[in-house]
Amino acid sequence: MNRAHSVVCSSGLWARSVERKLLPWGLGGVDLGEDVLEIGPGFGATTRVLARRSGSLTVLELSESYCERLRRTLEDNVEIVQADATAMPFADGRFSAVVCFTMLHHVPSPALQDRLFAEVFRVLRAGGVFVNAEQVSGASALFDQFNASWHEAGARQAGSDDAEWGGALERMAHDRCAPVERQLSWLEQAGFADADCVFKDHRFAVLVAKR
Ligand SMILES: C[S@@+](CC[C@H](N)C(=O)[O-])C[C@H]1O[C@@H](n2cnc3c(N)ncnc32)[C@H](O)[C@@H]1O
Repeated sequence: MNRAHSVVCSSGLWARSVERKLLPWGLGGVDLGEDVLEIGPGFGATTRVLARRSGSLTVLELSESYCERLRRTLEDNVEIVQADATAMPFADGRFSAVVCFTMLHHVPSPALQDRLFAEVFRVLRAGGVFVNAEQVSGASALFDQFNASWHEAGARQAGSDDAEWGGALERMAHDRCAPVERQLSWLEQAGFADADCVFKDHRFAVLVAKR
């Protein structure tokens, strides 16, 4: 995460958005079962809400400094593992569900994103579910432009000035968003029997897949 991303992800505003919007959008109607893996917890805003569920929760985070912080700030009912989600240190079929919230666009290339989906498939048991709630790019350059204009109009209407919007553009310049269509194709190639985009609003989408 770059600095601007860190400021957003560690804020109270983000924690409230996670609780009121992101997790309800991502998990509505999905049964995660009793052994859940979250990939890319960052500062733990999503993890804190997930940890209130019953059952076991493991988080996998690439950054050792985020892991240290999570060990200090999370309750001890969450297992924290430092590793790369494109090569996970878990046995085949270990989890009943794997969830990712706003993390895939931090994985630097399409090949590694595809590899991450294959790893998710491997660590899920038969019948397990994968939820990926994520910023996505448009299906073509035309829709990238359309979504960018919509995003800017919304930000301006909410009161963003040039400096604030410039900061948002700088933060987003590092994002590696994949279109929904490509993600569905990776899921199918990974072996998921069922996969769909169950929610989409311009640059944000929720994909759910069942092994
Ligand atoms: C934007 S944060 C999302 C945090 C949290 N899910 C939320 O929505 O508030 C993305 C996190 O994914 C982690 N990450 C990026 N690539 C990863 C990888 N290959 N394996 C595991 N974690 C990774 C980053 O270190 C970062 O903490």
